[in-house]
Amino acid sequence: MADALRIGIAGLGTVGAALVRILQQRSNELAISCGRKIEIAAVSARNRNKDRGIDLSGIAWYDEPLDLAANADIDVYVELVGGANGAAEASVRAALARGLHVVTANKALLARYGVELARIAEKNGALLNYEAAVAGGIPVIKALRESLTGNHFSRVYGIMNGTCNYILSRMEKEGLSFDECLKDAQRLGYAEADPSFDIEGNDTAHKLAIMTTLAFGSEIAADDIYLEGITNISIEDIRAANELGYRIKLLGVAQKTDTGIEQRVHPTMVPLDSVIAQVDGVTNAVALESDILGELLMVGPGAGGSATASAVLGDITDIAKSRPGAQQVPVLGRPAHLLEPYRRAQMRSHEGGYFIRLTVADRIGVFANIATRMADNGISLESIVQRSQPDAEPGAPVTIILVTHATMEEAVRNAVSAIRAEGYLVGEPQTIRIERPKTV
Ligand SMILES: NC(=O)c1ccc[n+]([C@@H]2O[C@H](COP(=O)([O-])OP(=O)(O)OC[C@H]3O[C@@H](n4cnc5c(N)ncnc54)[C@H](OP(=O)(O)O)[C@@H]3O)[C@@H](O)[C@H]2O)c1
Repeated sequence: MADALRIGIAGLGTVGAALVRILQQRSNELAISCGRKIEIAAVSARNRNKDRGIDLSGIAWYDEPLDLAANADIDVYVELVGGANGAAEASVRAALARGLHVVTANKALLARYGVELARIAEKNGALLNYEAAVAGGIPVIKALRESLTGNHFSRVYGIMNGTCNYILSRMEKEGLSFDECLKDAQRLGYAEADPSFDIEGNDTAHKLAIMTTLAFGSEIAADDIYLEGITNISIEDIRAANELGYRIKLLGVAQKTDTGIEQRVHPTMVPLDSVIAQVDGVTNAVALESDILGELLMVGPGAGGSATASAVLGDITDIAKSRPGAQQVPVLGRPAHLLEPYRRAQMRSHEGGYFIRLTVADRIGVFANIATRMADNGISLESIVQRSQPDAEPGAPVTIILVTHATMEEAVRNAVSAIRAEGYLVGEPQTIRIERPKTV
């Protein structure tokens, strides 16, 4: 049997502790599969005295991840600390500079420094694996980076934030408000004390930026993503969507268009009978559309200690099985110097269906005026319905819901501005984009 693969793990929290447990419990099986033992040689975390329910005896302890990465006698550095900067960034750079292979679950780090880190890894002959960074346990990086090599992708999209999907699912199932569902998500540990990163869409954007690069061969552009979170989604939108045959999901979508690549994260209506509409709660889903394969949809756990550790373990065993001198998988799907500059498609030229909900003063002619403003902007309507509450006072505001056929975002924005200028709107109009899966 070949020499053991010596790994150093920084971060012994939810993911790190689960990884240590699995590596220890399955060490014999892993040695058989990989042809060599995987040995935890060193670890690092903040608090040495914390009881983590794992046996760390005989393993070297480092107070600083950077110290571990720079000095420990290891072959692979596993970064499970988190954060785009600080200890995570410094230690990953140090490990790659030494030529150590690196495994990380850190989407924030990759979204910000992925191209630079890929260059350092390539220069030093190191592997940089990050399966757990996108959609947790779902093997989407492997699919994009290896299994589907040669495919030309047209669109990749997915539900990649369990917190948002949990909130939207509960709002729909139990008729609860956004705030009530968020509080429950926090109580159950699905949402952070400060949930803004999840509910505003930033977390999904980081994952999308990494997928975009792998699918389209362009540099990572995490700051160039159209972003809308789920905080404005009301129970009224969810019900109206259902009645029209749709469900609302927070999707991250990257799509190739004639003018560049669209990267967008926003609440999206998907047909109720599509597979992605059935993905409930904290589960994630990723869809890949390409010319050779067609459509692939992967559904599974997007977070949690053991699911995420499973992805990290896969990255480690890939390294254990790799042979010195063999061709390496490029970190970002192609050598970093061959990535193309990111060409952003303008959001106003996005083409698709739209759901528009307007609350208007109950005046004669408003309905006809709305239809006219839509027509003025060349928007063809699939449906337009007026609703008033059965118990509403005469003259109370009424809701008008429109669903458009495929149209340009600019036309929708112009039509809504024109309607706003008419002065009969009560409150803010709601606009939700519709996304249709290719087949499933
Ligand atoms: N949790 C998930 O479901 C999930 C899913 C996908 C990806 N990820 C990614 O996996 C990574 C780890 O997440 P996690 O949920 O396991 O985080 P976590 O539970 O907060 O654990 C973080 C660990 O890092 C240690 N740490 C933090 N700052 C440190 C520093 N300056 N020096 C030394 N150690 C430090 C902490 O030490 P102490 O324990 O001593 O405080 C802790 O052990 C993140 O990049 C995250 O985005 C997590």
